Amino acid sequence: WDGKILSLTAVSPINIALIKYWGKCDEIEIIPINSSLSITLNCDDLCSTTTVSLGESYEESELILNGKSEGFSDRIKRMLSFLTDSIPAEGAKAWDTVKGEEITIPKEDLLKMKVHVESTNNFPTASGVASSSSGLSCLALCLNKVYGCEMDLGECSRLARLGSGSACRSLFGGFVIWDKGFDLTNFEDIRNITPEQVLEASKNSKAIQVKDESHWDEIALVICVATSEKKKIASTKGMKDSVDTSEFLAYRATNIVPKRLENITKAIEDKDWNTFTEIIIKESNSLHASCLDTYPPIFYMNETTKNLASLTHDINQNFYEPVAAYTVDAGANCFLITKKKHLNYLIDLVSDVAGLDDSKIKFNFKDEIETEHNQ
Ligand code: PMV
Repeated sequence: WDGKILSLTAVSPINIALIKYWGKCDEIEIIPINSSLSITLNCDDLCSTTTVSLGESYEESELILNGKSEGFSDRIKRMLSFLTDSIPAEGAKAWDTVKGEEITIPKEDLLKMKVHVESTNNFPTASGVASSSSGLSCLALCLNKVYGCEMDLGECSRLARLGSGSACRSLFGGFVIWDKGFDLTNFEDIRNITPEQVLEASKNSKAIQVKDESHWDEIALVICVATSEKKKIASTKGMKDSVDTSEFLAYRATNIVPKRLENITKAIEDKDWNTFTEIIIKESNSLHASCLDTYPPIFYMNETTKNLASLTHDINQNFYEPVAAYTVDAGANCFLITKKKHLNYLIDLVSDVAGLDDSKIKFNFKDEIETEHNQ
């Protein structure tokens, strides 16, 4: 606080879904039709940095995303209205940079100030590299703090969820479940969820850490940027079309995902690499099968993505354990989950895939890596 502007900056990483979220049963509260599970990246390369500033001198509330001015989306407005109830009556504590002391800014003053948000991603936005997960989780962190709300990370994940579903999982490191927040098991009941059930689910639908980043630190991630273009069908529209038209998605949400979620959680706890990688691959393909079963169908993968998937199966067949699992979100980019000891070998092989050069391959460990493939 400099007497005029109260400002706070946070950095948040992306998370990659291993059990996918695809489909909502409430668009406003963002209640997913199934629970999901992700791994949060532990690196500096794939992050959003967001600064939230509150000031009476701002004419309008504004979002500047990667240098471009945009208005607040309805989702950001929903986050702000959720937050208003959580601001403590006494207001927010802030460090006064002029006086050099801690002060309290009353709630009524905070509410009068316009909100200025500036956010940058150090990777392609809206191209299936999970930019919304880092961007909106970062915004939730900033808003919580700047308004003095003191929500714990679970509560903060509810706030992030209102901005973008997948964002709620980026609040925690390691392996994270986003609980759907309700107990309905029949798809028609889920699709026709009542307003009372939505209200209840909205309180319960949040992220829970399964294991932190130190639990299975053999794991590394390779991100193959098969395109930097914005995806043609935004995930919100894609999900809605799938929920409305795909019978496979209905079956997947109620009959496939719950078992996979249970099995992958156990595989993570037991560090069972074979089961873990198999579930990841099947889950990715199940998401894209749902998209293909949508009418009109949605195609997110391109030739490079498909080549990377085939290559992964070829490599895995020739080694004593799976070298990698691929997973692809609503875009063409491909995430390869591997072990650090396989990283150099894997990167060498994927560099030969048409459409990829070194600049399009990122990975989340920078240290020298002992490899098993040098001989
Ligand atoms: O949070 P959204 O609306 O960007 O949805 C993301 C959906 C997927 O990335 C495809 C899957 C997931 O669980 O993150």
